[in-house]
Amino acid sequence: MKMNKYTKSSDFLKKEFDNLSRTEKVDFLRDLESFLKNQDSAYYQSNISNVSDAEYDKLKLLYDKLITNNPQIKGSGYLDSVGYKPSEKFEKVNHKVPMLSLSNIFDSDGVIDFIERVRRYLSLGSNDNLEIVSEPKIDGLSATLIYINGNLHVGATRGDGSQGENVTQNIKTISNIPHKIEDPNVPEIIEIRGEIYMKKSDFFELNERMQKEGKQTYVNPRNTASGSLRHLDVNVTKSRKLYFFAYAWGEISTNIAGSHFEMIGLFKKWGFDVNPYTNLNNSYEDLIRSYDDLNDIRSSLDYDLDGVVYKVNSLAYQDRLGFISRSPRWAIAHKFPSEKATTKILDIEIQVGRTGSLTPVAKLEPVNIGGVVVRNATLHNEDFIKGLNSEGESIRDGADIRIGDQVQIIRSGDVIPKVVDVNMKDRNKDSEEFIFPENCPICGSSAERELNESTGKVSSVRRCTGGLYCNSQILGSLEFFVSRDAMNIEGFGGKSMELFYDMGLVNEPGDIYTLQDRQAQDQVDILSLEGWGELSMNNLFQSINERRSVSLDKFIYSLGIRHIGVNNAKLVSQQLTSIENLLSTIEKIHHDRDDALQAFIQNDGLGKVVISSFLSFLQNERNVSILRNLLKSIRVTDVINVISEDTAISGLSLVFTGKFSSMSRSEAKDQAERMGAKVLSSVSARTDILVIGEDPGSKIKKAEELGIRIIDEKEWLSLVDF
Ligand code: IVH
Repeated sequence: MKMNKYTKSSDFLKKEFDNLSRTEKVDFLRDLESFLKNQDSAYYQSNISNVSDAEYDKLKLLYDKLITNNPQIKGSGYLDSVGYKPSEKFEKVNHKVPMLSLSNIFDSDGVIDFIERVRRYLSLGSNDNLEIVSEPKIDGLSATLIYINGNLHVGATRGDGSQGENVTQNIKTISNIPHKIEDPNVPEIIEIRGEIYMKKSDFFELNERMQKEGKQTYVNPRNTASGSLRHLDVNVTKSRKLYFFAYAWGEISTNIAGSHFEMIGLFKKWGFDVNPYTNLNNSYEDLIRSYDDLNDIRSSLDYDLDGVVYKVNSLAYQDRLGFISRSPRWAIAHKFPSEKATTKILDIEIQVGRTGSLTPVAKLEPVNIGGVVVRNATLHNEDFIKGLNSEGESIRDGADIRIGDQVQIIRSGDVIPKVVDVNMKDRNKDSEEFIFPENCPICGSSAERELNESTGKVSSVRRCTGGLYCNSQILGSLEFFVSRDAMNIEGFGGKSMELFYDMGLVNEPGDIYTLQDRQAQDQVDILSLEGWGELSMNNLFQSINERRSVSLDKFIYSLGIRHIGVNNAKLVSQQLTSIENLLSTIEKIHHDRDDALQAFIQNDGLGKVVISSFLSFLQNERNVSILRNLLKSIRVTDVINVISEDTAISGLSLVFTGKFSSMSRSEAKDQAERMGAKVLSSVSARTDILVIGEDPGSKIKKAEELGIRIIDEKEWLSLVDF
């Protein structure tokens, strides 16, 4: 048994508690509660006990007593809520072999680079053959199935690659996953990996049904498959008709094949579905043919593909090639281009974002793009509609876009479909130019285009000046607050937050954390909301309670301050290190804003615009009140600046600019951070390296002026050893 801070006797702990101030008591109870919850989940989900039963009972009794004797302190309802039902949450599974991701390429040059890189790494001569398997890249969610002595033992999701969710019961409802592998030669332990997906036809049928029943429809087959697999009610998973393609493996107790293709053959023999478009290729030409063939037929297939995966066939070669950060060197994904379609604009709607930006959205005559019905597409901004790019230069030969026009739409993966072009030949003679509103359509405040002081340019985005008087901005920030990269509170998806906001249940982030108490005291009635029942409500409370502790950088990011994205939130929090320092910064700004500004300027990496935006946020009294209310319910943990191991770029300050072909810019940034570098958004004298992709823009000039080392994508890849 491990030691913990509760090993003292109940009486001692109670005395200690009685001597605390009110806020300290709240903290004490919250700590104890989270300790108990951790024990619950460890016990129920992993059958592990960190404390003895007697000690656990003692602490639970103590918690009960303290909550009952201190009615002025509201508990979270931990004891009297539904209880902690482990079956309602998925147990975590540690992947013995991590579930990695793939690097992407987008064109034939990428294929040549991949082959050359592999050949170079393996030192293959020009006569040495290199077999590469090509497989469709299925757009579903990956899963791993652990078979012990041929019996399906555990099925889990990928999760973060190291740890996934145990969804064995759900996986067992998938009709084409064998529960038993009959082959007597199957290894004692084998972990079969592949993609769980929903057929397009089943997705359409499901959506039609949802629509008929007045329920919210789903966005695409992939998200639906993911939600269906991870449903707490196994019967729902079963009713959703999911399928599985096997294409990889994790842990294996004995090696049974020499090549990937051979392994796929065994999967097939054992009763797994393997994709019929899996090819063995011997040359670059073969690979391109496999890719083109699949691209030609992809719309006709009953499942979504987003590219082709190339895998070095020999397992001995795979072993030698190994991995680079989170992707194998022996495999790569060649993405398909976005799918296109032409349709008519029925209307143009202006949506107001969380930062007040007015975004024009084309309401379209529904059109099927690669199997998904598209009804809306972004028109980006006012200038785009007029036929101008962000530099004020003419695009589409200066053609504007009007209601009634025939336009070309592209859709790629999960990204919002975009209008890319207009068909002038089909324009109705009576059509009128679209007049972009100068007032916010939600709150009526004036909407303005800001002048960027450093570039002297007027922004192409028009913004509502109503701030927190604008309902759309308030709702937008609440939706942002609970979103996945921010506080990640599940259960507020879809239109839920809008409903809670419209009904006056949640007006600011702090209200989220008092919902359970208000429900218990009959101040609100969540059960009367459409679509809400005991189960969904209790699940929501549980998700909220799981997010009562957050790191400072996540906290800052969740506030949704303009210009403070994930990266800047990290930099700001590294500077502040604790919530106490953030609170004292608020005091400091009130005395002397310049002083506060100077303190931040010392920090390399944060530009003036960013710091100014952060300080302005803290200077606004309404924001400070929101922040203080929030801090009554959540705990913000300090940022510990970790010094990473020595790499070629550790300790250096890097700036990335332009488009990258072998990876997204954010992937490159993540990689740099993992290797101990600091990633900054603008070039300054403190920058060590500027990494440039295609169309790098003005940063190059500044770097040249400052004599900063500039490297291109190829050099970057060799620097980080790909
Ligand atoms: S192999 C070590 N093969 O793509 C590499 N992945 O970006 C393991 N995917 O998470 C992946 N079809 O969800 C592989 N034929 C295929 C695939 C495939 C789809 C997905 C998978 C993975 C992601 C990687």
